[in-house]
Amino acid sequence: MDPLADAIGLRHTNRRPGARAALADEHRAALAAAVRSVPGADLQLLESPAALDEIAALIGAGDRVRLLARGTHADLMKEIRWTEAEAAARRDGIFVGSFELSPADLAGFTMCRDFRKMELVRRWGGGRALEKTARKAIAGAMAVALITMPRAGLADYFQGGRAVERAWLTAAQRGIAVYPMATLPYLFARLIRGGGEGLDPETAAVARELRERYVRLFDVTDATAEVLLFRLSLAGPPSARALRRPLEDVLVVR
Ligand SMILES: Cc1cc2nc3c(=O)[nH]c(=O)nc-3n(C[C@H](O)[C@H](O)[C@H](O)COP(=O)(O)O)c2cc1C
Repeated sequence: MDPLADAIGLRHTNRRPGARAALADEHRAALAAAVRSVPGADLQLLESPAALDEIAALIGAGDRVRLLARGTHADLMKEIRWTEAEAAARRDGIFVGSFELSPADLAGFTMCRDFRKMELVRRWGGGRALEKTARKAIAGAMAVALITMPRAGLADYFQGGRAVERAWLTAAQRGIAVYPMATLPYLFARLIRGGGEGLDPETAAVARELRERYVRLFDVTDATAEVLLFRLSLAGPPSARALRRPLEDVLVVR
């Protein structure tokens, strides 16, 4: 049995605010080894205050762009479960309570649900407040990590997913909180390899500007698969854990 198997039940997403502590050398080495145990997979870490502040600004801008564009707004809203009852009935998606928002931020996020409001915000040139959640999250990061594969084919993403899982389980074993913040790399992938599908020209132009700053932080090219961008932190237990769908819903044995 792979020793990481013991951590499968421990692995979870934790978006609780943390403290900006240093990542221990032993933890950095263990995470890198877990990722690199998959051929081709690599781990890049941002740890300096300047790099963390820059990625916080970029992730925040990505969140703003995502909420202000019709297609990406719809994609996000489909994932959210707004009440405990809805989360319990569906047993999938993201329960809004697991975003760990303050009451004021939760009120703001609830207003984002209606795209007509977002259209007005966009027309008025607003939306900077939509960047705040990422800033707060990264203010409590030990590091922001990117797992990559050298190429972006389906098999590469499959192997990259294995590297993600191995890193996540390694973090879980050590009590390190993992919070995937994947909007930017997936937005860029759509821009670079997806012909900008679903992105209006203005959104695509902003995404291109964000990409220019992002490639100064990470060693990536347009050929790289950026499998997952995530925050590593020391945080208390999450307020809510994602529920699981019944096994028979997700596993078919023939
Ligand atoms: C590939 C991938 C990308 C994800 N991207 C995000 C993200 O951008 N933002 C976020 O809040 N959670 C993100 N998540 C976390 C999922 O919402 C979470 O894994 C799911 O709700 C199940 O919860 P669990 O990880 O606690 O089991 C991502 C997870 C995966 C596997």
